[in-house]
Amino acid sequence: MDFTGKVAIVTGAGGDMGRAIVKKFTDNGAKAVLMDIREEAARRSVALLGLDEEHGFVVTVDVASEDSVKAAVQKVMDKYGRIDCLVNLAGIEGPNNSRTEEYDFKMAKKVFEINVYGTFLMMQNVLPVMQAQKSGAIVNFGSVSGMFGYAGEIAYGASKAAVIHMTKNAANENGGNGVRVNAISPGWVNTEMFRRILEQYKETFENPLDNVTLGPMNRPGEPMEMANVVVFLCSDEASYVNGSNFLVDGGMTLG
Ligand SMILES: NC(=O)c1ccc[n+]([C@@H]2O[C@H](COP(=O)([O-])OP(=O)(O)OC[C@H]3O[C@@H](n4cnc5c(N)ncnc54)[C@H](O)[C@@H]3O)[C@@H](O)[C@H]2O)c1
Repeated sequence: MDFTGKVAIVTGAGGDMGRAIVKKFTDNGAKAVLMDIREEAARRSVALLGLDEEHGFVVTVDVASEDSVKAAVQKVMDKYGRIDCLVNLAGIEGPNNSRTEEYDFKMAKKVFEINVYGTFLMMQNVLPVMQAQKSGAIVNFGSVSGMFGYAGEIAYGASKAAVIHMTKNAANENGGNGVRVNAISPGWVNTEMFRRILEQYKETFENPLDNVTLGPMNRPGEPMEMANVVVFLCSDEASYVNGSNFLVDGGMTLG
C-alpha cells in the first residue's frame, strides 16, 4: 500500500484506535489529519507517533456540529488542497446496561448526534472534495452492535445500524465516480471505550467479563488489527470494494 502524497482524515484520532489508524496511514506515506473534540488527546497521538507538522496535522472538531465540521474541513483544504481518505471513527458508547424503558432520552439523542449525524456531516462536507478529485475513499465505523440486537444499548446499536446503512446509501450514490464508501464493524477492541464499558457492566455483573462475548479467539481485538483493515479499505488494493460492511470480530458473532 502506498499513500505517498495522500491526505487522510481520521476523526477520533485522540483515542487508541485512532492513533493506530494514523500510524498505519503515516507508516505508508500519508499525511494524516488528526481530528478530535479533545485537542490535547490528538496532540498526544502526534507526539507518541513522532509526527511532524506536515504528516500529523491536528484539527479540533465536534463532529456533531455542522459549523465545526465545515470549519475543520476548510482548514484541511487550506493546508493541503485535497482529501484522499476519510475515516469516521469518532463515536461514543452512551449507556451500555440500560434497558429501553430506562434509557435516558438526552443520552440517546447525544449518541445519535455524534455517531450518526457526525458521520453524516463529515461525509457531506468531504464528499464534494473527493468527487471533484474523482478519487477518494471513506471508511465509517459500524459495530457488531449495529448488526445484532444486544440488550442494554438501544441507542448505540441503532446508531451503528444507521452508520452501516448510510454507508450503503452513500456508496450507491458514488462508486462510479472514483469515490468508494465502506464500513468496518469491529467486535470488542482493546481501547478506552472497551474499558469504560467494562466499568458500566460492574454495576450489574459481579465479573464484567461475564457479559463480554469474545468468540473462538478468546480475546478482544487490538487497535492495530482494526487499523490494518481500515487502511486496506482506503487503499488502491481495495479498488473494487464499495458499500461493504467489513466484519472484524475474530469470529465472536459465529454463535
Ligand atoms: N472499542 C470497541 O470495542 C469498539 C467496538 C466496535 C466499534 N467501536 C467503534 O470504534 C470507534 C472508536 O472507538 P474507540 O474504542 O477508539 O473509542 P474511544 O472512546 O477510545 O475513542 C473515541 C475518540 O472519539 C473522540 N470523540 C468523541 N466524541 C467526539 C466528537 N463529538 N467529535 C470529535 N471527536 C469525538 C474522543 O475524544 C475519542 O478520542 C467508535 O465509533 C466506536 O463506536 C469500538
